[in-house]
Amino acid sequence: MVTIALIGAGMRGTHAYGAYVLDHADKAQFVAVADPDQQTRQRFQKLHNIPEERCFQDWEDLLKQPRLADAVIISTPDSTHYKPTMAAIEKGYHILLEKPMSTDPIECIAMGEYAKQREQVFAVCHVLRYAAFFKNLKALLLSGRIGKLVSIQHNENVGYRHYAHSYVRGNWRNSDLSSPMILAKSCHDMDILLWLVDADCESVSSFGKLSYFKEEHAPKNAPLRCTDGCPVEPECPYSAQKHYLTDNLDWFTNTISIDTSLKAREKALKEGNYGRCVFHCDNNVVDHQVVNIEFKNGVTAAFTMCAFTKDTSRTIKLMGTLGEIRGHMEKNEIEISNFASGVTEFISVETIGGDVHGGGDAGLMEDFIRLVESGSTKSLTSADISVQSHLMSFAAEQSRLSKKVVNLDDFKADLSNP
Ligand SMILES: NC(=O)c1ccc[n+]([C@@H]2O[C@H](COP(=O)([O-])OP(=O)(O)OC[C@H]3O[C@@H](n4cnc5c(N)ncnc54)[C@H](O)[C@@H]3O)[C@@H](O)[C@H]2O)c1
Repeated sequence: MVTIALIGAGMRGTHAYGAYVLDHADKAQFVAVADPDQQTRQRFQKLHNIPEERCFQDWEDLLKQPRLADAVIISTPDSTHYKPTMAAIEKGYHILLEKPMSTDPIECIAMGEYAKQREQVFAVCHVLRYAAFFKNLKALLLSGRIGKLVSIQHNENVGYRHYAHSYVRGNWRNSDLSSPMILAKSCHDMDILLWLVDADCESVSSFGKLSYFKEEHAPKNAPLRCTDGCPVEPECPYSAQKHYLTDNLDWFTNTISIDTSLKAREKALKEGNYGRCVFHCDNNVVDHQVVNIEFKNGVTAAFTMCAFTKDTSRTIKLMGTLGEIRGHMEKNEIEISNFASGVTEFISVETIGGDVHGGGDAGLMEDFIRLVESGSTKSLTSADISVQSHLMSFAAEQSRLSKKVVNLDDFKADLSNP
């Protein structure tokens, strides 16, 4: 039985890691929690039956105590990962850290280096590597069935509702408050490409901008909030009422208010961030971005992130010398074609351990608990492995802003000699 302390009991802390432990009470137990938000903290305390003296308002208070558990999960906002992580390592905790490791590339490198020197598990929540869909793709590549991999097309279809929720109204809307889109959302994609290609990154180039969710596109007479009698609300696909006041109590709706009664949600829309008109927010992150990548083994990848898609899904095409693979993550469908035989085989991927991130959340937790129990530090997503995909994200952002190709080795060297 692994004991865990949670730092940051928000959506991920409660609904991903907390939920996993409630479903696997024989494997792990939360024994301490820190979160400054009283309602959030108490919800977690109650769900996991944590004694009052082990509930803290801040990570510093929790980490001031003698070590309270085997491991700590850090799921605080993006820009607040570094300090609690380093303090927790010093205290001897095994670490599971939410991505991005940090919003500062130098801190990412420092964490990776530190992880190499320690005996503890230090894993980063790159959940896609644990999803059955991507595990299948990796196995197919290793089997050699499409020959030598030459190129990848990878699309992150964010989904118009998910984009409006997280990147226009929500926590990741403004890179000054959190991090640029390529780090906040697409560091998962940089990581999965790196894993599939199995070679270091040579160079990246990127284009993209915030095109639509801006004041200049606000319909005439649209008020600051959808709930303030907006004349176009009935036909607007981004209407807050349509997104949050239906019978659908999914994770989007759970974010706007802990109390999900209709009355509480209406109040949240009147007062909070999620009732704002999408054209009158303080957002600045891109709503579409492309990244071209060249790897050191000659493989190329073209990545597209776009807000303007119906569903939230990832789609991929892997092109090899003997065949091609096409895949749709949310449908859990893989299609593999062999050029010589002309045969196309359809593979239906079975997701084990729930639907979130294609089973990736559950797979990550299972692996983390197994590593803590076994004393092995060989995580598939250890901090030192995760540094490169973070640097690819930072380099892509530099390329987007400078409109220049960025070589990854030069980018790293510049970080060491500013
Ligand atoms: N791995 C994934 O697929 C994935 C998916 C979504 C989000 N994330 C990442 O997970 C992290 C958390 O995201 P979230 O959606 O849960 O956000 P959230 O805002 O719902 O939760 C963050 C929590 O941290 C708490 N917090 C803030 N300061 C703190 C402090 N000093 N000490 C203790 N707690 C503190 C907040 O009160 C909040 O409850 C982010 O870095 C995000 O980018 C990862």
